[in-house]
Amino acid sequence: MTVALHAHQLTKRYGALVACDQVSLTVLPGEIHALIGPNGAGKSTLIHLLSGTIAADAGNLQLGDRDVTRLSPHARVAAGLSRSYQITNIFKQLSVFDNLMLAVQAHAGSSFEFWRPRESDRALHEAAATLAAQCAIDQLLWRQPAGALPHGEQRKLEFALALAAQPSVLLLDEPMAGMGPDETLRLTELIGSLRGRVSMLLVEHDMQAVFRLADRISVLVYGSVIATGTPAEIRANAAVRQAYLGEETA
Ligand SMILES: Nc1ncnc2c1ncn2[C@@H]1O[C@H](COP(=O)(O)OP(=O)(O)O)[C@@H](O)[C@H]1O
Ligand SMILES: [Mg+2]
Repeated sequence: MTVALHAHQLTKRYGALVACDQVSLTVLPGEIHALIGPNGAGKSTLIHLLSGTIAADAGNLQLGDRDVTRLSPHARVAAGLSRSYQITNIFKQLSVFDNLMLAVQAHAGSSFEFWRPRESDRALHEAAATLAAQCAIDQLLWRQPAGALPHGEQRKLEFALALAAQPSVLLLDEPMAGMGPDETLRLTELIGSLRGRVSMLLVEHDMQAVFRLADRISVLVYGSVIATGTPAEIRANAAVRQAYLGEETA
């Protein structure tokens, strides 16, 4: 089986500090792979190295069979490696639905030009509606300005916007941050519902969500991966307990 994403010995230094130290990691097709570790471990840095917003000092990155190490963030998205959008990427004055249509059109590029205007319009509508439904965005909100959405619904919209690029791998850096328990649960269900359709690398502090969602977990400590395994293996791992989980359960 080919690997969806393979990071090979990615390294990023800030002066004397090695934020990511020869990090190797694979995301398998369709899996939800969680990345956990204490504050400052290098999780966000790794997500930036993968999305291409920070250049690695060493190492390489493969997306499927393709080496994407030297691709720009934009080219990586086009190749199928997407990062969940930040709220700032949403056009707040536009409706939820128009945001989705724009994202679909942006990704489809010229492919919609082969359709006649009415048909292309209908195809865009359908694609946007499918995404909104897939991400469980309340239909009553589709015509609302995106900026007026409750926090949890905005996160779902970010998700839908990221999916519009039809990624093979989706990077998620703390999607539950700032959410209440109800919203966290809904987003957990949404992420779980996408299992198998898109491979995901999920950085998340909410351990309940991580252990519910992850097929595999990698643990990053001081820039190094100290363990990778199933949730049960990670829970039972003495080094992990000592370095990280111990502080949660103590
Ligand atoms: N732009 C930067 N310049 C200098 N040091 C940085 C920079 N970004 C992150 N760091 C440092 O790199 C380490 C890893 O940070 P980060 O990737 O944000 O960790 P995490 O997301 O796991 O909390 C931390 O020690 C942090 O202070
Ligand atoms: Mg972080």
